[in-house]
Amino acid sequence: KNIAVIMGGYSSEYQISIKSGNVVYETLDRQKYRPYRIVITAERWFHLTDDHREIAVNRGDFSVEIDGETIFFDAVFNAIHGSPGEDGLLQAYFELLGIPQNSCNYYQAALTFNKRDLLAVLRPYGIKMAKSFYVNKGDVVDFEAIVDTVGLPCFVKPNKSGSSFGISKVKDKAALPEALEVAFAEDHEVLIESFLDGTEVSIGVLRIDGEVKALPITEIVSENDFFDYEAKYEGKSQEITPARISEELAEKVRAAAIKAYTILGMKGFSRSEFILVNDEPYMLEMNTIPGLTKESLIPQQAAVAGISLQDLFTNSIEDSMR
Ligand code: DAL
Ligand code: MG
Repeated sequence: KNIAVIMGGYSSEYQISIKSGNVVYETLDRQKYRPYRIVITAERWFHLTDDHREIAVNRGDFSVEIDGETIFFDAVFNAIHGSPGEDGLLQAYFELLGIPQNSCNYYQAALTFNKRDLLAVLRPYGIKMAKSFYVNKGDVVDFEAIVDTVGLPCFVKPNKSGSSFGISKVKDKAALPEALEVAFAEDHEVLIESFLDGTEVSIGVLRIDGEVKALPITEIVSENDFFDYEAKYEGKSQEITPARISEELAEKVRAAAIKAYTILGMKGFSRSEFILVNDEPYMLEMNTIPGLTKESLIPQQAAVAGISLQDLFTNSIEDSMR
């Protein structure tokens, strides 16, 4: 089967996605699949051959012509973090073309990539979360109201982004305007959330043979003020799997993560983050195209669970073609 491993994207997460995509490309079971690297950028979509040739993708049917032969894909393995891989745009395109893909559908992607909307959908189901305030680019910003609503310190985040790009922890009101500007550089919507003083954990959730399962929970101990880009990818954090928390609390985290996945009817593997405050998990977000780099959490969690990345990827592809 021909598998298009798509990587790149239009956002700041481009480089991370290239790393994730290459992990997928190198790990896929070659007995079962013939993987092709497809790089998608705002300017160009191309197949990157092993001998470094760049061959344009036909966007009409997502085919590639290699040395006179037209290659069609049996499935897509999506490793594009951020837009257009994690926000539903490519999901809609592949759905229209009828090409199976391993990630969730276009609506689930668009919803989950929008932090505000994801949390708004999940809140009535009893999933706890930080207090928040939402600002659109161009809005007159009422800094007083922000501080009244979320308190200080608070987190200022692009509403639709990943890998902590554009996020600031703000300790006093005077720093809010600059933090908003930094966040607006990534997205035209900004979410401001109250600071949850607790332990950050991350948990993968996936469907194996039709059953929703959680991976071991990772505890994040950042050397920086929070789990920012440097902490995530440049070694400035300790990631401890399984998390050093009570079994009772771990069960609450699993239950909340599986509940969110199930309410949304997700497929494939996803990863959610929570902050534990007073023995209760507060949800931060869900990633439907979680990082697969050597520094990323899903590979660490799978290893602890005794699941090889190759099996994880095979499962994800087979699940998408059922
Ligand atoms: N957005 C990054 C890639 C992650 O969730 O792992
Ligand atoms: Mg994220």
